Amino acid sequence: AIERTLSIIKPDAVAKNVIGQIYSRFESGGLKIIAARMVHLSQSDAEQFYAVHRERPFFNDLVSFMISGPVMVQVLEGEDAIKRNRDLMGATDPKKAEKGTIRADFADSIDANAVHGSDALETAMAEIACFFPTLNIYSR
Ligand code: CMP
Repeated sequence: AIERTLSIIKPDAVAKNVIGQIYSRFESGGLKIIAARMVHLSQSDAEQFYAVHRERPFFNDLVSFMISGPVMVQVLEGEDAIKRNRDLMGATDPKKAEKGTIRADFADSIDANAVHGSDALETAMAEIACFFPTLNIYSR
């Protein structure tokens, strides 16, 4: 089915000046960018966005990293978009990511791992709502 997913290009990849290269991966991978915004998250923005990870040992490092610089946030649309984006990204830990994936090519560590992508339909809807009012989404 045609789905939408939320993608974030994290501070490491924005700092490396590879937004365009990552956008090309989305586009040649069959995903269309239908909304986009650059934003420097506040601590409370990042804590809310990653609330599901609040009890995890990596939570504080994750939040500090995500507020260390601007991020590029986009909605991607396409057939099977959630899984398609996760396949394009590769494994969370770049050391385990398959060759040719975004994380294998652009990420340095499990925290500085270049991109985030929603992991399921429900989280995608919640994450998209977090950044984009429906009137700022341009499908077709
Ligand atoms: P992301 O897809 O943005 O979702 C949560 C993030 O936590 C994940 O990518 C990683 O960057 C980060 N993280 C750090 N340590 C871990 C870990 N052990 N397992 C999963 N995610 C981790």
